[in-house]
Amino acid sequence: MIVELTKLNQVEENTWYEYSLQSSNGLESIMLIKQNGSFRGFKNYCPHQGRRLDYAVGQFLLTEEGNIICPAHGAEFDAKSGLCTNGPCLGQSLQSIPIEANEESVFTVIK
Ligand code: FES
Repeated sequence: MIVELTKLNQVEENTWYEYSLQSSNGLESIMLIKQNGSFRGFKNYCPHQGRRLDYAVGQFLLTEEGNIICPAHGAEFDAKSGLCTNGPCLGQSLQSIPIEANEESVFTVIK
C-alpha cells in the first residue's frame, strides 16, 4: 500500500523526520531524511536491541556529520547507507524502506 508521508514543502534538507504508520504488523515508526534533493527512509528501530532511534518522538541525536546516534547504547549509523559504523551493532544496518516523491508529496510503501 502506498502511503503519503508528508507534503514535499514540509521537508527541509538534512533534517530527520519521524512518521508513525499503520501497517499489517501494527503501528510502525519510520525515519525520513532529504539530502541533496534525494530522500531516504529507514525503519526507526536499532538493529542492536530494537529500540527506537529518537530519544523523544521525532528528536534524534546526531553527529556533526548528521549521522544518527542510538540513545540507548550509542550505536552510530551512517545517514546515507544506514550502516552502523560504531557501537554494539557495528556492521549491521538500519532497515531501509522505499521512498518516492512527486512534485507535491513524499510517499512510502508499507505492507
Ligand atoms: S538498542 Fe541501539 S545501541 Fe543498543
